[in-house]
Amino acid sequence: MSKKVLVTGGAGFIGSAFINHLLDNFQCQVLCVDKLTYAGRKENIKHNIDFLEKDICDVTSDELGDFDYIVHFAAESHVDRSITEPLEFIKTNVLGTATLLQVAKEAWKHDFEGKLFYHVSTDEVYGSLGEEGFFTEETAYDPHSPYSASKASSDHFVRAFADTYGLPTVISNCSNNYGSYQFPEKLIPLFIKNIVNNKPLPVYGKGENVRDWLFVNDHARAIDVIFHKGKLGDTYNIGGFNEWKNIDLIKVMIKTVDRLLGREEGTSDKLITYVTDRAGHDLRYAIDSSKLKGELGWEPSLQFEEGIEKTVAWYLDNSEWLESITSGAYKVYYAKNYNNK
Ligand code: NAD
Ligand code: DAU
Repeated sequence: MSKKVLVTGGAGFIGSAFINHLLDNFQCQVLCVDKLTYAGRKENIKHNIDFLEKDICDVTSDELGDFDYIVHFAAESHVDRSITEPLEFIKTNVLGTATLLQVAKEAWKHDFEGKLFYHVSTDEVYGSLGEEGFFTEETAYDPHSPYSASKASSDHFVRAFADTYGLPTVISNCSNNYGSYQFPEKLIPLFIKNIVNNKPLPVYGKGENVRDWLFVNDHARAIDVIFHKGKLGDTYNIGGFNEWKNIDLIKVMIKTVDRLLGREEGTSDKLITYVTDRAGHDLRYAIDSSKLKGELGWEPSLQFEEGIEKTVAWYLDNSEWLESITSGAYKVYYAKNYNNK
């Protein structure tokens, strides 16, 4: 009998990449629990799996049946939305995670042999760096946005359940992901979409904030490695050693889109529009993932130049996906709150 993996948020950007990776490489049963918010699309999952459309805050151990592992992705994930709607983030990210921990404890009936609760988290819990240095697994938590505060809180609940009840857990904290199927509210897909459509590119502040970018399939591979070989109770940082100032990354995107569309170089430079900075905008994130490399042998497989080329090409080839995911409820919500984009 193959093992059963419960994946939450598996219809989203990273969760679907993980399910696709898992089932391409391993024999197991997957049950995905996902509320299908504006960011989730069942079609992102390429395999036939069991699917429960439900809010993680409302799940019960009875309806889930037996399962061996949980890999928990489900979250409200966009920092800008957390600034306008912080309570949604507390609900899903904090209460939802605590609910799942409780459900796992009940479902496993305190017999934790061979079980695992894998919590997918973010480097944003560590706060912001200055010009130098890296986040390590020992960096003290210092979240600044409602999103990062809610993720930090969820990490604390995971550790509390491990310490208090002996629940077998592992946490990974990853840097910024990019790749196909990312909702176009995040920098890379939003800007690709706007360059294609000759719309302004809203650069926050001076565009000098720095992010450390990792291809989503490399994140999925890292989770697979930690899931199979990670030490119980431990934390692993995942990152690409690939820092980019926003404005430099934006210029690469402009150049790539223009070239792939056969436009003259420099055509879309005029779209760059400096706008009011994000409130509480963290200056720089940079992950030291040497523990993951040293202990479990993972490192990114894709060079950034290749990854961004593939990503731009994917969005150009999948305009129907972009159109469908930005219609319906999303359109109404965003027209109200973000009509400058
Ligand atoms: P996403 O917004 O693309 O997808 C989130 C998924 O969770 C969607 O399918 C959505 O329908 C589902 N969901 C949201 N609220 C839910 C609820 N209450 N109940 C059930 N399902 C719900 O997010 P993502 O970018 O794929 O991020 C996945 C996880 O990875 C998150 O926990 C996020 O904090 C973390 N993370 C993301 C990044 C990044 O760069 N995107 C980096 C590091 C960590
Ligand atoms: O570091 C990991 C985190 O990365 C994840 O935990 C989050 O879920 C994910 O959304 C991401 O957060 P960021 O806030 O870094 O990503 P975002 O794509 O929103 O923004 C990247 C940078 O670009 C950031 O410095 C803000 C800036 N930006 C973003 C948008 C959407 C702009 O200048 N203009 C924009 O319109």
